Formats: sequence, C-alpha cells, structure tokens
Amino acid sequence: MTDQANILRLLAGLVDPLLAPLEHLPAGAQVVQIACGTGQLSLELSRRRPDLRITAIDLNPAVLAVGRADAAEAGLKVDFRRMNMTGLEFDDGSVDAVISRMGLLLSGLASFEESSQEAARVLRPQGLLSIATWTDLASSPYTGVGLPLLRELQAPVPDFEGLFAESSRPGALEDHLAQAGFREVEASWFRWETEYPDFDAWWDFAAGFGPLQPLYAALDEQLVRAAMSEQISRYRTSSGSYRLPATARLLTARA
Ligand SMILES: C[S@@+](CC[C@H](N)C(=O)[O-])C[C@H]1O[C@@H](n2cnc3c(N)ncnc32)[C@H](O)[C@@H]1O
Repeated sequence: MTDQANILRLLAGLVDPLLAPLEHLPAGAQVVQIACGTGQLSLELSRRRPDLRITAIDLNPAVLAVGRADAAEAGLKVDFRRMNMTGLEFDDGSVDAVISRMGLLLSGLASFEESSQEAARVLRPQGLLSIATWTDLASSPYTGVGLPLLRELQAPVPDFEGLFAESSRPGALEDHLAQAGFREVEASWFRWETEYPDFDAWWDFAAGFGPLQPLYAALDEQLVRAAMSEQISRYRTSSGSYRLPATARLLTARA
C-alpha cells in the first residue's frame, strides 16, 4: 500500500460523522474542503450529493493533482484549487459549508487564529462548519502506539508533544472558533477502529512512512518487529487481523 492509501484507510472512519451535518444543505450549495490532501472526503460528498458545488483546497500541488485524477476517473465534479487556508480566495459570506479532515485546527499546519477567522469570513451567516482534528499524539494509532514503543526501545524520539500543547488544552479549539466569530460551537470525541488485515499491513503503516519511519529504521528490525507484535497483540482479532482504535475531536459550528 502507498503511504497515501495507508493514511486514507485510517481517515475513512471519519467520513460519515463529518458529512452527516451537511445532510440538510440545499441543492447547489457551495462547500469548501480546507487542506483537502487528495480530497477523498470531497469526492465522497460529491458521490453522495452530486447537486452540491464542491471546492477542495490545499497548498500542495502534488496532492491536488492526485485528487483531480481521482475525480476524473470516478466522473465526479470537485474543483481542486491551490490555496492557503489563511488566505481563502472566496468572497465574504459566499460559502454554505466548510469541511476539513485533519486540516483546519491541526497543529503544525497554520495559525489557528488566522485559519479559523478565514473560515468564518467566507461562510454566509448561519453557514456550517464540520471538521475533525487530532488534538494529541495518543489519539492516532500511528503515534499512540509508535511513540511509547520507540521510547521503550530507547530511540532518540524528539519532543513531538510540544507541538500539540495548545490543541490538547481542554476547550482550546472551541475557544479558537468562538473567538473567530463562530456560534453554536459543539465538540465531541469520536472513536473508531481501523482494521489491518495482518501484522505486515499494520507494520507498513506504523513504520513505513512519516516522521517515525527513520526512528524505526535505525533500530534492529527483528527486535522492533517483535516488540511491536507484543505491543499490539491486544488488538488482534480471531481471524488474525488487527483492529486499532483511534479518537478524534469532531467540531461543528455556525458562522
Ligand atoms: C494531514 S493532511 C490532510 C489530510 C486530508 N485532509 C484528508 O482528509 O485526506 C494535511 C494537509 O494540509 C495541507 N496544508 C498544510 N498547510 C496548509 C495551508 N496553510 N493551507 C492549505 N493546506 C495546507 C498539506 O498540504 C496536507 O495536504
């Protein structure tokens, strides 16, 4: 599996809770996905609601190109555009809904203040926000399982926790949205499980890409695989697959 496919397998569990609040949007409504990556969330929305006008924005031209190719192949109408979430090229009050999955209010991407103000600016009065984000490192199985294991094996793990200091503060994300002018801010925890067909599929995800990959690669592979196998044995199913839990913060609000 590619890195992208591995991430999408994990994030697929967030599609339904993120799209559910958009159910009552009228035909022709304008939806913008912020920091869309390859835009799978927008493509799924387009599949379910071909009547909507959907624009998916990201800074990275490479992921936008993948999204465009996927849309063309599936015959879906999503407008992929290169844009910064802190400078959205939409008029004030011109958008009916803003959605984002691990984009808006994800630590390390953009200023929470500027990006939430931009989302509020482009939404029409009563326009809807529906987003999901990681607030801390324990919530994602990638870091939640990997970091304790790497530390146990004395890998030189940098201080990733510092990056999440603000988003893990209880109420912080709600405060940012309220300060940006959002009303009816609602936040909840969403828990889901992702299934990996066997240990190698999990290993491919956990040790095969991203910031932890070089830390795993510097260790003795046999030793670290054995330690990992032990670590995730509690998630093993009777069929030999692994079901790893994840928890994300879901936020909805009205402009
Ligand atoms: C974790 S990925 C998002 C995953 C994606 N939303 C999905 O559902 O598959 C974060 C994305 O944010 C994008 N990004 C980072 N900073 C950004 C910014 N200032 N404006 C827009 N996109 C940004 C990155 O290029 C990357 O594609």
